[in-house]
Amino acid sequence: MKVDEVRALYLNYFKAPPRNHKEISAFPLVIENDPTTLFTSSGMQPLVPYLMGEAHPLGRRLVNSQPSLRTQDIEEVGDNRHTTFFEMLGNWSLGDYFKEEQLSWFWEFLTKKLNLPKEKLWVSVFEGDGKIPKDETSYFLWRKLGVPSRRIFYYKDNWWSRFGKPDDMPIGEMGGPDSEVFFEFDEVKHDLKYGKECHPACSCGRFLEIGNNVFMQYLKKDDGVFSELPQKNIDFGGGLERLTAAFNNNPDIFKIDVFEKIINAIEKYSGKSYGDNSREMRIMADHLRACVFLADSGITPSNKLQGYVMRRLLRRAALMGMNLNQDLFNTKLFSDIVLTVYQTYGGVFLDETKKENAVEIIYVEIEKFSKTLSRGLKIVEKLERVDAKTVFDLYQSFGFPFELIQEIFEKKGLNLERSAFDRMLAEHKEKSKTLSAGVFKGGLADSKVESLKLHTATHLLHESLRRVLGKEVVQKGSNINSSRLRFDFTYPTSLSREQIKKIEAMVNKQIDKNLVVTCKLMPIEKAQKQGALAFFKHKYGELVKVYFIEDEKSGEVFSKEVCGGPHVKRLSEIDGRVKIIKEKSVSHGVRRIYAIIE
Ligand code: ALA
Repeated sequence: MKVDEVRALYLNYFKAPPRNHKEISAFPLVIENDPTTLFTSSGMQPLVPYLMGEAHPLGRRLVNSQPSLRTQDIEEVGDNRHTTFFEMLGNWSLGDYFKEEQLSWFWEFLTKKLNLPKEKLWVSVFEGDGKIPKDETSYFLWRKLGVPSRRIFYYKDNWWSRFGKPDDMPIGEMGGPDSEVFFEFDEVKHDLKYGKECHPACSCGRFLEIGNNVFMQYLKKDDGVFSELPQKNIDFGGGLERLTAAFNNNPDIFKIDVFEKIINAIEKYSGKSYGDNSREMRIMADHLRACVFLADSGITPSNKLQGYVMRRLLRRAALMGMNLNQDLFNTKLFSDIVLTVYQTYGGVFLDETKKENAVEIIYVEIEKFSKTLSRGLKIVEKLERVDAKTVFDLYQSFGFPFELIQEIFEKKGLNLERSAFDRMLAEHKEKSKTLSAGVFKGGLADSKVESLKLHTATHLLHESLRRVLGKEVVQKGSNINSSRLRFDFTYPTSLSREQIKKIEAMVNKQIDKNLVVTCKLMPIEKAQKQGALAFFKHKYGELVKVYFIEDEKSGEVFSKEVCGGPHVKRLSEIDGRVKIIKEKSVSHGVRRIYAIIE
């Protein structure tokens, strides 16, 4: 079966009665207005307010397929099952059904819709940790569904939150025990390197995790103290690519259709076979597919945040290409791969009109880096031993990411000066942690109020920009953290001081008027007919939230915008003046402003 077919089967199964789920649009892969993370890495991320109890416009049962990116497993990519980018099939109960329905529905989906052989399915449940009890309910539910006890494992690690295990969760974060399902490939022989006995959570590759049922029911109140959330939720996530591999009964997920054409192209241009070079080809296929999605989301390689992740992925893909065949860089391989990914996902998740741009972004970065890479590799070639300074030079002057340096040295069998290298690596990891997770700085709870104010200020600014500069101003991006807002929009020239002053004055005048912020639910077509600004694609007929900023006495509306929220209730809560602190160009015809609340 193909990925498209498995996706449709899953969505239709959960939409059909008696399950009656409503399909929600996928959220953008690159997160705007969320200071907590760089990428959407799980389908539940945009649903946090609803898991906390806020009513969702589409009801209590939701389903979708969410493009997701996780970089924590980047070093595992190259084996039979890890990828950075993947599609997460998700279904949610927002305080509606719970364990019994979820486990039996997912079981039915696996065994009756995908027809996976029951005897190849293994499950795990939460063992308990002293504070949160052992999940015996799930154990008995699995038994009732016919899973024999020898295929059910209790683990302490069966817990899911955005931050991992209970101790790592910040105060105010939600989490819960989970129950995972694994597919067994019996032709993969257990490797003793991973332990004496094989079991579902073993890393040897015999077991593939294909779904995670999270019982999202706890809120961290204090260190070691958990309370129940206002409602008990289901947060299910399943890897679409992995489910497809399980259906095909092939333990190599890179053999599914969405990777096939990419790998064929690599084989063709490099003249090498996948069988002998699977690690390199898998890394290239995964990283390049991820980068096409990033380019489509408007990211370009850089040394910061999302752009830095993209650069690391592209450079690692380039190194793999170099290992396969140096001449690859003179071929059309990289452009062909971008076009192939658009062919696969165009109209589903990717915007065909951005195809040429993605080809160019990826080509330019790979081309530039391949030159530096050859020069750097020549230096490494001559080395007989490696000292910390060489490593640092490669890192600084040649822009080799650390994992790349490690990879090159390991391949050459060079003796690393471990201690110095490890120290640098530790520093680097600390830096990347702040890069990808530093956005957690201060924890969610602290940043919430400030981000909320800046979010409402963004709507005010957006409308003011359109009123002062004209209706050709179109939002191109927005990013908010607890100390500033950033807003990208189309405009041909830089803004004059007068224009900036006028915009600020308009925003602050609304704050002085203490306008009220209200939210109404309506179908997207109605919202658009009313002139509400909307910048994400929405499914036809979908109910959306429209935020109005208006004068309740005169009924005069200043701004209306389709948005997930949340916002302040009244502009007086902004409690300060909005000030534009910087204005610059980001690309041809696109300006960027930064603003703060003073
Ligand atoms: N939110 C859960 C996960 O990402 C389903 O694994």
